[in-house]
Amino acid sequence: MKGMQIFSNQDLQMKKEIHAKEVMSEEGEQMGCYLLNHSNSLFLTPQKGDSLVLIQVLEGRLYCVGGNEEYRLGKNDVVRLKNVKEKVLLTSIGSSSICMYTVNYYQNIEQLNELFQEARKADLRDSYTMGHSRRVHNYAVCLARELKGQCNLAEVALAAQLHDIGKVILPLEVLQKEGKLTKEEYDLVKKHSMVTYDRLLPVYGERIAYIASSHHEKLDGSGYPRGLKGEEIPFEAKIIAVADVFDALTSKRSYREPMPLIKAVEFLEENGKLFAKEIVSILREKVQAGTITRSYCHEY
Ligand SMILES: [Fe+2]
Repeated sequence: MKGMQIFSNQDLQMKKEIHAKEVMSEEGEQMGCYLLNHSNSLFLTPQKGDSLVLIQVLEGRLYCVGGNEEYRLGKNDVVRLKNVKEKVLLTSIGSSSICMYTVNYYQNIEQLNELFQEARKADLRDSYTMGHSRRVHNYAVCLARELKGQCNLAEVALAAQLHDIGKVILPLEVLQKEGKLTKEEYDLVKKHSMVTYDRLLPVYGERIAYIASSHHEKLDGSGYPRGLKGEEIPFEAKIIAVADVFDALTSKRSYREPMPLIKAVEFLEENGKLFAKEIVSILREKVQAGTITRSYCHEY
């Protein structure tokens, strides 16, 4: 990707000189060491004017998506981003520590850590949704890789991880209810999408908040929260919607057994009015090829 360079350990000496020269000669620089928990992500968005980010992995591993390219970074690797046009997502695999130098480019890491903890909490509240966001992320990224021309991989990855963060507002008796929800309860459930929007907006901006909050929109306009139709729904949200329903159907619930993977694909195909056909057909290919399995864990 233009403006992005990944250096390996061998170039370390050279990189140090780059830090010193480029970072220290400009104004607005920030420098700090941070600990990232598993799956926590940094999302770097292009800024106006000259900007520079240097990230060195001190411990652990990071998965990096910029535009449609992916990189895996290990200990001592350095990412250098200068005037990058594309958004870049860095996700920690296991816990990792990083050293970050930024110039005119800032993201509040404490705020991010808090957000990811909240997302995990939302998942952990119900044993049946445990790991849901992680699996939805994995499925969505797997599908998005095949649809690179049509979507932004970094946006899919980030929005998928945080799509259900708004579920923290739901009382446990609603979250874990076995029978049919009453109208009032269902109205409350529907609110989680906009809570997700409100939580993500100040941290990641409008685009990510909009994609993440649109994961229950349906092609025919029958979804929520906005009742978007067809092309009005961001393509990234359509991918997350397919991954979300696929995970829900193939997960065990207290009142039913998990649906076999291929049956879940058939369900999505039968509901072609609701879910994008080209995305579902890739899901079918991946399931049939055994690339996507229930224990699908080729996370990064
Ligand atoms: Fe949801």
